[in-house]
Parts: sequence; C-alpha cells; structure tokens
Amino acid sequence: MSLQLGDIAPNFTAVSTKGDIRFHNYIDGYWCILFSHPADFTPVCTTELGVTAKLHEEFDKRKVKVIALSVDSLEHHIKWIDDIELTQKVIVDFPIIADEDRSVATLYDMIHPNALQTLTVRCLYIIGPDKRIRLTLNYPASTGRNFNEILRVVESLQLTDQYQVATPANWQPSEDVIVVTSLSNEEARLKFPKGLHIVRPYLRYTPQPNLDH
Ligand code: BEZ
Repeated sequence: MSLQLGDIAPNFTAVSTKGDIRFHNYIDGYWCILFSHPADFTPVCTTELGVTAKLHEEFDKRKVKVIALSVDSLEHHIKWIDDIELTQKVIVDFPIIADEDRSVATLYDMIHPNALQTLTVRCLYIIGPDKRIRLTLNYPASTGRNFNEILRVVESLQLTDQYQVATPANWQPSEDVIVVTSLSNEEARLKFPKGLHIVRPYLRYTPQPNLDH
C-alpha cells in the first residue's frame, strides 16, 4: 500500500552527496522535503534542483531541510552538481541521494512503471518535525514542479498547526485565513483579535495571525 497523509515517513539509510544519511536522524525535529527526479543531466531536473537551491534561505527561515533523490550513482550526482551550479548560478547545498538499488524509491513508491519504467517520477513528500507525512505529490517527467507552491504549502501547514485556521483556495501568505468551524463566533473573536468577517456561519475569515517559525 502506498504511503498516505498522516503516516510516519519510513526510515532508511542511503548514500548521498553529503555522506551517509539515516533519514530519521536527518529530519531531527525539522520539516523535511524529500523529492525524487527522474535522472541527472536532464533539462527539467537541472532547473528544478537549481530553483530548490535558490530557495535555500526561504527553506531555512521555515526550518525546512531538503533532500533530493534519483537512481543515478553518487559519481554522476557529484558531476551533475557542478553543472547545476554553473548553469543555474547557485550553490547546491542540500544532499542528493544516490538510490542505485532503488530501495528508497521503492519504499516511497517513487517508481510508477506505467509512466516511466525504471526511473523515479517527480515525487515529493512534505514531512513534519514529528516525521508524519503532510503532503504527497507526483508529477510527470515532462512537467517541472513549482517550488514556490511547495513553500506556500509549508507556510499553510505551519500556520494551521499553530492556529485554529485553514487556508482558502489560492491563498498566499499574509492573506486572510478561514476560522475552523469548530470554534463559535465568541471563541473566534477572542482567539482572533484582528477581527472576524462572517460570510456564512461556516465561512468566516480573519486576517492572518502572525506565524512563529
Ligand atoms: C527532464 O528532466 O527534462 C526529463 C527527465 C526524464 C525524462 C524526461 C525529461
């Protein structure tokens, strides 16, 4: 059975460009983004890893560790990092797992043989500091992911963990959020002193509370 939201992200050991990884030790109370790409020295993957590297400060600010994976060898990864750094003009500071025996890819259901026979698809997990899976995503090889969207989800998860709110469709950080329906209007006014805008009894907005990262 595939991994589902709320499951504990399975532990593993792996070889990476930053040394051996014991995944649960790597998470170490941080948020974690574990993501696969199909292959090194391919165009879309090069841009994805470049963009991820450029978001380094944004991930740091939110206490997020990033770790990439493909079934290429460590030697390939190391050579490819040089290329990513040259072409994308960025330092790749996160580990890339060399999953040559496909053990992590199999554990995390990253190979979808009817889409891409032996390579990993663009699979991504957001994992919380408690090691529980909070988001799963699978994109085809031909479509690069939007890592600003991944950051937006992290921001929403951190906010909704901290406050009794949810984020509406297309929400962007700093925009109004939805108050959960389990709070009465009186409770909501106390908890959200910035104000309560009642559209329907089940649809109530408040300005975004401040987020402690
Ligand atoms: C790419 O990154 O461009 C790519 C990788 C594998 C298959 C197709 C495209």
